[in-house]
Amino acid sequence: MHSPYLLALRYSAELCLAAYLIRQVKKPDRFAGRLFAWLMNRSHAALTDWAFAQLKIPGGATALDVGCGGGRTIHKLAEQAIQTYGIDYAPGSVAASHADNKRLIAEGRVHVERASVSRLPFTDNKFDLVTAIETQYYWPHPQGNMREILRVLKPSGRLMVVTESYKGARHDALLGPVMKQLGSSRLSGDDHRALFLAAGYEGVEIAENRRRGWIAVTGAKPTA
Ligand SMILES: C[S@@+](CC[C@H](N)C(=O)[O-])C[C@H]1O[C@@H](n2cnc3c(N)ncnc32)[C@H](O)[C@@H]1O
Repeated sequence: MHSPYLLALRYSAELCLAAYLIRQVKKPDRFAGRLFAWLMNRSHAALTDWAFAQLKIPGGATALDVGCGGGRTIHKLAEQAIQTYGIDYAPGSVAASHADNKRLIAEGRVHVERASVSRLPFTDNKFDLVTAIETQYYWPHPQGNMREILRVLKPSGRLMVVTESYKGARHDALLGPVMKQLGSSRLSGDDHRALFLAAGYEGVEIAENRRRGWIAVTGAKPTA
């Protein structure tokens, strides 16, 4: 492999492969993306379990997981909620979520569909709880997208945003530049609070596990 043409070809191929793999984290496709969605289930499990430990899910709740990836959070919600919905704009994530929740879907307790957070395919005031795990920083218009979630929440219903990629997090110096390449927004805890308030939420609460570098932000839809 000494020819400069072959070397250039090799580096171009490696760059294309790296770009393709990086893209799978943001929007998993039907092929390699399914594997990435499955890997996300594993890598976000501890973070999600920690966040759920802070959450009181009302009995008989109807819940939605936005950017549901491999579908583990849907499964976890379905253990406590009566009806659970999941949406994701990536075909690979929807396929993986279907596979992970096959039995619950057949029983009519879980519903997964392909949709963007920009336009949720649900009527107003439907959900008691909406979760968004490691996805909000990819959304095109976070404030407008959170308003769209507000529309589908019942009055007093809560949105919980969970991430380990935020300004000031323990791994920020390492993770920040990579997430920047993915076009991800970089918010601090205070930025999250301001965003929730600007989008119309109230009762905003922030839980942080500084040792692990995790944050969970919740806010409620006003009752009047
Ligand atoms: C890093 S993964 C996290 C998946 C899952 N929530 C988890 O915790 O493992 C981000 C997910 O958000 C989805 N996503 C990103 N932007 C989205 C948007 N605008 N609308 C719907 N889903 C989106 C991606 O397709 C991907 O499945």
